[in-house]
Amino acid sequence: MKIKDLEFKKFLTADRIEKKVAALAGRIEKDYQDKTPVFLPILNGSFMFASDLIKEITIPCRVSFVKISSYSGTLSTGQLKTLIGHDESLFGTDIIIVEDIVDTGLTLTKISEELKNLGAKSVECVALLRKAPAREKNVPIKYVGFELETEFVVGYGLDYDGLGRNLRDIHIKVG
Ligand code: IMP
Repeated sequence: MKIKDLEFKKFLTADRIEKKVAALAGRIEKDYQDKTPVFLPILNGSFMFASDLIKEITIPCRVSFVKISSYSGTLSTGQLKTLIGHDESLFGTDIIIVEDIVDTGLTLTKISEELKNLGAKSVECVALLRKAPAREKNVPIKYVGFELETEFVVGYGLDYDGLGRNLRDIHIKVG
């Protein structure tokens, strides 16, 4: 499959993703049994993952979508913007950041710091995918769906220059 100048092949099917998402939701539910967590999905990439994940959660919870962007094309620009769109009432809450993919971990580290400064009681993260750099740097992510090396992927919310977010399966760059 071609998106703009890049070639991609199927990597994770919608069926595999669905099973993993259910398993992640099960773990979160167990850990947050006596709490009312606030899910904080990071737009745009995590909209599909967040929607499927949160549908599986049956304990009381809140959801607040936020935005931050450090990417342009397939390489990190290293430029981080601030977290926008969050609710003032995050003080004293148990937050679960919902990330589509964690690569260098810069975005996640920055967001976690900001949330702690806002007075969050606890901050954890659920990421559908984690790349090698975040693993090597021991970026704390409590719930991880799939592990990757440094490959670029699209689909299930993830984009290449704004395209491919609508795909049900996750596709990996070839060559
Ligand atoms: P980090 O700050 O390097 O961890 O970058 C994380 C963000 O970069 C993710 O939330 C994605 O928006 C984007 N990103 C990283 N890797 C990929 C990829 O393979 N495909 C699409 N977006 C990616």
